[in-house]
Amino acid sequence: MSIMSVPALNAQFALDNALQFHNGPGGLVFAHIDNGLATARVCLQGAQLLDWQPTGEKPVIWCSNAARYETDAAIRGGVPVCWPWFGAHPHRRDAPAHGFARTALWRVIHSEALTDGRTRIDFELPCPGNTPFWPEGAQLQLSLTVGRTLEMALVTENNSALPITITQALHSYFVVGDIRQTQVLGLENCEYTDKLDGGHKQQSGAVFFDREIDRIYHSSDTLCVIDDPGLHRQIHIRATNSASTVVWNPWQEKSAAMADMEDDAYLGMLCVETANVAHDEVTINAGQSRRLWSELTLR
Ligand code: BG6
Repeated sequence: MSIMSVPALNAQFALDNALQFHNGPGGLVFAHIDNGLATARVCLQGAQLLDWQPTGEKPVIWCSNAARYETDAAIRGGVPVCWPWFGAHPHRRDAPAHGFARTALWRVIHSEALTDGRTRIDFELPCPGNTPFWPEGAQLQLSLTVGRTLEMALVTENNSALPITITQALHSYFVVGDIRQTQVLGLENCEYTDKLDGGHKQQSGAVFFDREIDRIYHSSDTLCVIDDPGLHRQIHIRATNSASTVVWNPWQEKSAAMADMEDDAYLGMLCVETANVAHDEVTINAGQSRRLWSELTLR
């Protein structure tokens, strides 16, 4: 389902071969980008990027082979937009985890072939107040710019009369060769909240993975690097207006317990999320906006 039909989307926003819209699994609509520099796929539900692969490289964004494609369900993988809360709702147990933006239907509002060959696509999610979990109003916009690098910009505009407070994440899932050999650099000495035991700790050295990891790094650097000897590459994640970085790998037991993840899939994936979460929440005054930005580059 989409607010606009696939023919209408193609009539208004297709860019020759570089951007086309298609119906896909579960009745969901997908934007396909293939501009010579890279390929990408975005589901209009959630404005969720599901793949990004620069030409000649292996896929960078991980998407589960067991992902569910259904209306109103979260898709396991890609870059879900967690908004206006990250994780559990601050007060309501019946609210969906990670907010409602990742399962909402977004509108395409702009597409553009840039002169350097990259493709830009912009999505909008109007959030009028008075929803059960979100009494305030806001306007959300996501811009994706796809080329040899991938840029993602999430702009929250407070168009209500009162300040709003949000937590948010570009919940990016990455492909790695073997999680047991992978490290995350750039978080050395950062304070973090360990979501597994609630402890407040300090990182010493690189982050490595030999068990489940679920951490919120605070005041994290503007550059994180996934160092992946298995695939002989590094993924550089630059961010602005991001006070937190979430690092998550579910490891064996949780991976096997998740219906939308294959049992051993944890070996080939890792989440490093550009975020403002927990006490790094963001308050935006009436009429103001806040832009969370991240850029991915392969080295
Ligand atoms: C991570 C959280 O960002 O997302 C984890 O830190 C959580 O605690 C994971 O398990 C996946 O969340 P979900 O709602 O997509 O299963």
